[in-house]
Amino acid sequence: MSLLLGFGLLTCIASSESSSVFVLKGQDIRLDVQENVEVKELEVFKWTFRSANIVRCTDTLSVRVSPEYNNRVEFSEGNFSLLLKNLQQNDSGPYTAVVSGDKEKTIIAYLLIVQERVEPPVLTVNSDSINDTCNVTVTCRGQNTSVTSSCNSRTCSQVGGESRGAETSTVPLLSVYVAGGSIICNHSNQVSWANHTKDIVELCPMKSVVPSCLDVQAQQ
Ligand SMILES: *[C@@H]1O[C@H](CO)[C@@H](O)[C@H](O)[C@H]1NC(C)=O
Ligand SMILES: *[C@@H]1O[C@H](CO)[C@@H](O)[C@H](O)[C@H]1NC(C)=O
Ligand SMILES: *[C@@H]1O[C@H](CO)[C@@H](O)[C@H](O)[C@H]1NC(C)=O
Ligand SMILES: *[C@@H]1O[C@H](CO)[C@@H](O)[C@H](O)[C@H]1NC(C)=O
Ligand SMILES: *[C@@H]1O[C@H](CO)[C@@H](O)[C@H](O)[C@H]1NC(C)=O
Ligand SMILES: *[C@@H]1O[C@H](CO)[C@@H](O)[C@H](O)[C@H]1NC(C)=O
Ligand SMILES: *[C@@H]1O[C@H](CO)[C@@H](O)[C@H](O)[C@H]1NC(C)=O
Repeated sequence: MSLLLGFGLLTCIASSESSSVFVLKGQDIRLDVQENVEVKELEVFKWTFRSANIVRCTDTLSVRVSPEYNNRVEFSEGNFSLLLKNLQQNDSGPYTAVVSGDKEKTIIAYLLIVQERVEPPVLTVNSDSINDTCNVTVTCRGQNTSVTSSCNSRTCSQVGGESRGAETSTVPLLSVYVAGGSIICNHSNQVSWANHTKDIVELCPMKSVVPSCLDVQAQQ
């Protein structure tokens, strides 16, 4: 009874420890077992993806790679790590290292998330809103989302568009902020980022250049 309880507890901990791994589409990743794996007589070590066995390795180190994964993986008999090559979006999901004997023992579990590189965002300034307090409205567009922010020379605050996703979200995040004299729109996910920046001095003349700003207005 206590043994069963202990086993249940262990598998519970093991599954909650499944760590997320983010990979850029097209890249390779090596999944390590992170411990010394012991494969006893007639036991089989395997790496699985969902219900598929990617590779099986017996106690005598006889190795079989599933035909589906031929040329796409490299298994190391030395340390039981699995190299997954040229990852595509549909390779996302749970990968588990298991020793199969009288029982199935999970050695380690990973949740692999393959992401595309984000597209560069486009930051546009609604110049109608520029006035001498240097409060500008900017809109930044990513692939699917856009945010509208109100910025001055020090800070931006979001006034519209989709709400900022959580940092942990797998959906690309758009953030607009001021740094180094520029308004920066940063489009990012866990594996890539791209930005579009606008120089504040060009957008919005500072106090020191207000006369030239008035000149421009006078000319119009
Ligand atoms: C496991 O072996 C592979 C191939 O020999 C090697 O590239 C990798 O770094 C090793 N991993 C660890 C954690 O030692
Ligand atoms: C992923 O999609 C490719 C085709 O785009 C297919 O050949 C491959 O079998 C798929 N992989 C999985 C694990 O479903
Ligand atoms: C500039 O814009 C801000 C915000 O819209 C407004 O509060 C302020 O009165 C405007 N200043 C002038 C001079 O129009
Ligand atoms: C854009 O959003 C739609 C619906 O929210 C989603 O189905 C689609 O995959 C998204 N496209 C990209 C490139 O993120
Ligand atoms: C700019 O003006 C808008 C509209 O009046 C205001 O809501 C916002 O707080 C101002 N933003 C900054 C950064 O001053
Ligand atoms: C954009 O965001 C990513 C992820 O948060 C960060 O690593 C990167 O430094 C940012 N780039 C800029 C220009 O702020
Ligand atoms: C970020 O923006 C700057 C200025 O526009 C540009 O030079 C740089 O290449 C951008 N970086 C990325 C990763 O998009």
